[in-house]
Amino acid sequence: MLFIQPDTPASLWEMLVVTKLAERTAAYAIEPLILNRWSSRAMSGEPMSKADLMPLIEAARWAPSSYNSQPWRFIYAVHGSPQWIHFTSLLDEFNRSWAPKAGALLVLISKKEFEWGGAARTHSFDAGAAWQNLALQGSVSGLVVHGMEGFDYARARELLNVPDDYEIEMMIAVGKPGDARQLTAELLAMEKPSDRRAASEIAMEGGFQSEVAAKV
Ligand SMILES: Cc1cc2nc3c(=O)[nH]c(=O)nc-3n(C[C@H](O)[C@H](O)[C@H](O)COP(=O)(O)O)c2cc1C
Repeated sequence: MLFIQPDTPASLWEMLVVTKLAERTAAYAIEPLILNRWSSRAMSGEPMSKADLMPLIEAARWAPSSYNSQPWRFIYAVHGSPQWIHFTSLLDEFNRSWAPKAGALLVLISKKEFEWGGAARTHSFDAGAAWQNLALQGSVSGLVVHGMEGFDYARARELLNVPDDYEIEMMIAVGKPGDARQLTAELLAMEKPSDRRAASEIAMEGGFQSEVAAKV
C-alpha cells in the first residue's frame, strides 16, 4: 500500500490542491454551493454528533416529492456505536478501504407505495432529491458527504430489518474532513472534484437526439 508521506513538501501538496480546484468551471452562472460540492473520501473518523448530523437530515426533509409523499427514510449508525460494525460489514472491498473513517454511515431507503395506497412511481427519484439536499447541506457545513452503491443490498435488508415495501437506495458516508495524505495512492489520485458532460450534451430541444447529433 502506497501513502503520500506526511512530510511531503508543502509546495507539492499545494500543487495537488491547486490542480484539483482548477478542474471545475461552470459554463453558465450557477450557485457556488452546487459547483463546490464534491465527494471526498478523506475523513477523520471522529464520531458525528447529533448536532452535526441532524441539520443534514433536516435538509433532506425539505426535498420535494410526488404528492409530498416524502418516501425517504434514513437508517444510520454513528462511528463506534454498537451498530457501527454492522454498517461497515455491508461495504464492498473498495468502499471498505475508506468509508470506515466516516463519522456516520446512513442507509437511504424509500417507501414504494403511497400511504393512501397505490404504487409510488417516483419513490427512488424523490429519495434522490432528498440525498442531494443532504449532500449540499453537508458540503456547505464543511463536512464530507459521499454516496455509495458499493455494498450488500440483500444483507442490508436483513441486518437492518428493512421491510419489503421499502427499496434500499444507497449508503451515505458522512464525516469531518480528514488528512488526504492518509489515503492510499489509488484513492489519493481520485481525491479531486470531477468534471461533467457539457450542457449541450444533456439538454435536447424538441425530442430525443442521439449523442452524436446532440454534440454538433
Ligand atoms: C448513488 C451513488 C452511488 C455511488 N457509489 C459510490 C461507491 O460505491 N463508491 C464510491 O467511492 N463512490 C460512489 N459514488 C460517488 C460518485 O462516484 C461521485 O458522486 C461521482 O463520481 C461524481 O463525483 P462528485 O460527487 O465528486 O461530484 C456514488 C454516488 C452516488 C450518487
